[in-house]
Amino acid sequence: MAEVTLLIHDLAAAVTPEGSGPIRGAEFGAVRIHSPASIAIAGERIAAVGPPAEMLQELPSGEDYESVDGRGRVALPGLVDCHTHPVFLGDRAAEFELRSSGATYEEIHASGGGIRSTVAATRAGNEGELRSSLERHLGWMLEHGTTTAEAKSGYGLDRETELKSLRAIHDAGHSSPVDVYPTFLGAHTVPSEFDSAAEYVEFVIHEVLPEAAPLARSADIFLERGSFEVPEARHYLEACQGYGLALRFHADQFSERGAIPLALELGARSVDHLEATQHEAAILLARSDVAAVLLPACGLFLDLPLPPARLLADEGAILALATDFNPGSAFCESLPLVMNLACTRLGLSPAEALCACTANAAHVLGAEDVGRLAPGYKADVLLLDAPDWRYLAYHLGGDRFAARIKSGRIL
Ligand code: NIG
Ligand code: FE
Repeated sequence: MAEVTLLIHDLAAAVTPEGSGPIRGAEFGAVRIHSPASIAIAGERIAAVGPPAEMLQELPSGEDYESVDGRGRVALPGLVDCHTHPVFLGDRAAEFELRSSGATYEEIHASGGGIRSTVAATRAGNEGELRSSLERHLGWMLEHGTTTAEAKSGYGLDRETELKSLRAIHDAGHSSPVDVYPTFLGAHTVPSEFDSAAEYVEFVIHEVLPEAAPLARSADIFLERGSFEVPEARHYLEACQGYGLALRFHADQFSERGAIPLALELGARSVDHLEATQHEAAILLARSDVAAVLLPACGLFLDLPLPPARLLADEGAILALATDFNPGSAFCESLPLVMNLACTRLGLSPAEALCACTANAAHVLGAEDVGRLAPGYKADVLLLDAPDWRYLAYHLGGDRFAARIKSGRIL
């Protein structure tokens, strides 16, 4: 065993998705429960997971390592939030109140509010303000067990603010314990100074993308009525792909308009939302290597129809869950709450929900070394203060962590 630096000993259990890579089809929901268990960590990586007595025997005597008492606790992999919008200023509390008295999200968007009102607030701030708002949001996520998160730009929609947002995300990757994966959402919606989606997309491709691409890993678009249609989406996404970015879609949230065939054609990483996806496109997606990312906190927040979660899972989709944390459609940073919604509203089991927020979410980000408690994986470990790992989904909004360990370091 490599030189052990931290031993979490005598856990009631250590629970992890089985296997490696994305977990789908008959394997979706396969979790391994080591009980009782100890976890040996060497530097940033997991060295071993196994029965406490065996682990003690294998540890060279006299070695100097830190230890954590795991009695009465359950270890889980740090959670991976593969779809979030944490770089924004201002809020949408007034809009939330409007919605509570009957205005819909799409009506507010069509009248110039919604995403555009957050764009206005975000453009008005400086880079330092953006950075501290992002850090604050990442801190909230970490409290709820997220140790790896995607972070999208998309509230700038001009050259300067998009680049400021991506730089803030890039810097947060160093200053926050959360590992951050940046996504360029240059095509979130058409800002008010442009007359058409086609004209805006030309601007993004020529004036923003060349400098944005080196700061991002993926590119994303909102393919929806009132934002972008397939022709502009193809043009924008092919340009992003030309810079080596992986492709993501916000699609089928309110209406189905050809996103899934386009995502398959372009070999995208994922299509996210899917509340409006009908049977035929769901089957296409499920049988492809493009992941389906479900966002049930957004569905709850906007009172949307439910996505075809069970159909996707049963037909073999690479299914992931995420918060969609943002100020307008899902002001929610808790993946345990999302897991609860997946179990209570989408028909997933707690074990499926766990795979969807760990191994499969990691796959969506191309972060293949997180999301499992197994040798070689990053030592991102949550100690749940509960007698049964299923409390993570079961305790509605009540996730209680006794400790969070990130890259082998106790936070
Ligand atoms: O994932 N649908 C588009 N984008 C976000 C919402 C952004 C916002 O309302 O500010 C979403 O729901
Ligand atoms: Fe989103």
